[in-house]
Amino acid sequence: MRLDKLLANMGVGSRKEVKQLVKSKRITVNEAIVKDSGMHVEPEHGRVSVDDELVSYQKNIYLMMHKPPGVISATSDNRDRTVIDLLSADEKKFDPFPVGRLDKDTEGLLLITNDGKLAHRLTSPKKHVEKVYIAKVSGEFPVNIIKQFKEGLTLEDGYQTKPAKLEILDKQSNEVKITITEGKYHQIKRMFIAVGYKVTYLKRIQMGDLQLDERLPIGNYRSLTEDELQYCKSLK
Ligand code: URA
Repeated sequence: MRLDKLLANMGVGSRKEVKQLVKSKRITVNEAIVKDSGMHVEPEHGRVSVDDELVSYQKNIYLMMHKPPGVISATSDNRDRTVIDLLSADEKKFDPFPVGRLDKDTEGLLLITNDGKLAHRLTSPKKHVEKVYIAKVSGEFPVNIIKQFKEGLTLEDGYQTKPAKLEILDKQSNEVKITITEGKYHQIKRMFIAVGYKVTYLKRIQMGDLQLDERLPIGNYRSLTEDELQYCKSLK
């Protein structure tokens, strides 16, 4: 694997940043100063150090899936197919897991990785990463529904939600775009229930700056691009 790719995967920095580190002679492979950031390294055998600190190699995978409805966001299940069942044997070897949960009937953007730190960054309530959904809802909206979401709603268990942004995309089909910064169990469905509506369709299209690649057919997945990965790793 290229050294710059390996170090980017491990969160040391982007390819450009690695190039800079190489220029400053701060990287060694097997104790020899690296001259070319594109040099080939055997991840399992090359001893890579940055500023004399050994960077231990752990192969991480980062996948964006267009989750289909009908599969569950878990690593295994006795009854249902899981999102991990949709991966190839090669990817399953790395023990990947879904980042956060989408309900069985929800579709859309789902990240799958074996990098626990990155998963935490995207899902921790403290990070306030925005999650954007498209929903279809039964019934007619009252005029003040946007305000109600903005002010936060009280769910059936008494939980007070943080402010959410609701945009009405189509009044005929009651299609809405909703942005939340939390990830409580069934949150969107419960928020609509709190104001007397039922969600009939739900799709996540965005998490932070990470957008569902609409060219990705439903049920398929691809590796994150370098930019997408750098974004996820930049969340502090
Ligand atoms: N909110 C829900 O109700 N379901 C999901 O799958 C995601 C958010």
